[in-house]
Amino acid sequence: MDELGFALAQVTENAALAGYQWLGRGDKEKADAAAVEAMRLQLNRTQVDATIVIGEGEIDEAPMLYIGEQLGLGGVEVDIAVDPIEGTRMTAMGQSNALAVLAAAKKGTLLQAPDMYMEKLVVGPQATHAIDLTLDLTDNLKNIAQALNKPINELVVATLAKPRHNQAIEQMQSLGVKVYAFPDGDVAASLLTCLEESEVDVMYCIGGAPEGVVSAAVIRAMGGNMQARLLPRDQVKGKDQHTIALAKVEIQRCAEMNVTPNTVLPLNQLAKSSEVIFAATGITKGDVLNGVQKQGQSLTTETLLVQGKSKKIRMVKSTHDSRLLDSELGSAAK
Ligand code: FBP
Repeated sequence: MDELGFALAQVTENAALAGYQWLGRGDKEKADAAAVEAMRLQLNRTQVDATIVIGEGEIDEAPMLYIGEQLGLGGVEVDIAVDPIEGTRMTAMGQSNALAVLAAAKKGTLLQAPDMYMEKLVVGPQATHAIDLTLDLTDNLKNIAQALNKPINELVVATLAKPRHNQAIEQMQSLGVKVYAFPDGDVAASLLTCLEESEVDVMYCIGGAPEGVVSAAVIRAMGGNMQARLLPRDQVKGKDQHTIALAKVEIQRCAEMNVTPNTVLPLNQLAKSSEVIFAATGITKGDVLNGVQKQGQSLTTETLLVQGKSKKIRMVKSTHDSRLLDSELGSAAK
């Protein structure tokens, strides 16, 4: 698996460069479509036999990289979890923390699930035994603080600033916990729990399942822990005709994929092996990575590449000639 690392880093680099062409242009769909197309193009040039196990949609939702899509020139068989742009709104609005990201692992080792909501609790290597999503959030945070040997008022939790988290945020703050609420982007927030230079101890949120599986893969490779629970849309967004109808479809798709919503998924079900490749390239400057930078004809990208087998964590800085971009990305950037 590890030998695929640099080839897969090129896939997220190209997706980030394609997304960058739409930076600040107010159109998140076009940014996403460009990144999707760039990822597809580059994966199809890669010596790999890849299947998308979780991505942004189903087969009839083109142009997304859909669940079950087969890509690559042939080679080692891998599962891929993707988010061509993690932070489509940030890209469209020129805000920080947008990434192009994917995780790959041996066939059959990443969770296959519909693109639905997922509740996620993530910690770094020092608190791996302290999480249990069957307990409430307060008990989890107390257990994590104890495992880290720090008072609860020194615990730092990253989450997403979404109205659905208001109650959890108040609950955490009333315990004295420091809450960093990011507007979007729970993959970067999850990563922060495993990076030594970060003060984030925990990531808790309800976000997308694809982001959850991508995060699980890198958390597994970096020695942290994560638990998750798939949640039908009506439980997250409130019950109305639309959310109830979508929830029914999600539950049906879960049954077809042999996963059960509302049950706790431990890390070894989300990512069965630590032999994973994780690649994330910054589109805009964020807490983990620099964004794409343009200087004259040069575009520079920064990619976090984690190779689980050899436990290598690399920051890959690459320079691209913007004049070659069209030929490298095909029509993706237009
Ligand atoms: P996308 O840009 O891919 O939609 O993801 C941004 C994000 O904040 C994710 O990090 C998170 O998992 C998800 O959106 C949350 O979904 P919602 O935007 O529906 O609250």
